[in-house]
Amino acid sequence: MSSTAPITIAVIAGTTRLKRESIKAARYIADFAATIDGIDVIFVDPVDFPLTGDGNDPEGKHPEYTKIVEKADAFFIVTPEYNHSFPGSLKRLLDSELALYNHKPVAFAGVSSGHWGGVRAVEALVPAVRETGLVVMSWDVYFPNVQDMFEDDGAIKQTNVNR
Ligand SMILES: Cc1cc2nc3c(=O)[nH]c(=O)nc-3n(C[C@H](O)[C@H](O)[C@H](O)COP(=O)(O)O)c2cc1C
Repeated sequence: MSSTAPITIAVIAGTTRLKRESIKAARYIADFAATIDGIDVIFVDPVDFPLTGDGNDPEGKHPEYTKIVEKADAFFIVTPEYNHSFPGSLKRLLDSELALYNHKPVAFAGVSSGHWGGVRAVEALVPAVRETGLVVMSWDVYFPNVQDMFEDDGAIKQTNVNR
């Protein structure tokens, strides 16, 4: 039992692609975090937060996402790599808020179907996220060959352990 108030981490999945594989990595991170004493997890699926137009004007926000960003003490963004960057839907969701991010830590996981694990998506995220006021962690997690990494139940295949 933790003696201090729990920390709330919002784990943000990075894409709305219908056949997305990176959602498995996002759920893995969220499920793992939830096992740690003193951490509450909110899972953020961009599919659940449709946004009209661009920007962060009141009509361009999603009230439920606003509440999550307000409540979260920290963020963990799990992004796939699309054309050496991160998906537009992730940018749109992140852009919808600003002041509520200020001074909160953010960590990243990258995901790809190849060997690089989405490292270029994470590197592209750093300057954009830094501009929002989030404080970027220096350690990342990478999921290369994501299509081969997970069992149907979400566990990491044993053949991938210690690689
Ligand atoms: C539009 C698009 C662009 C992609 N560009 C890259 C890329 O630049 N580098 C890379 O390693 N993989 C690239 N991929 C492959 C993705 O890494 C792979 O599809 C991975 O599963 C993406 O996550 P998702 O399944 O959650 O969409 C791209 C995939 C898509 C759909």
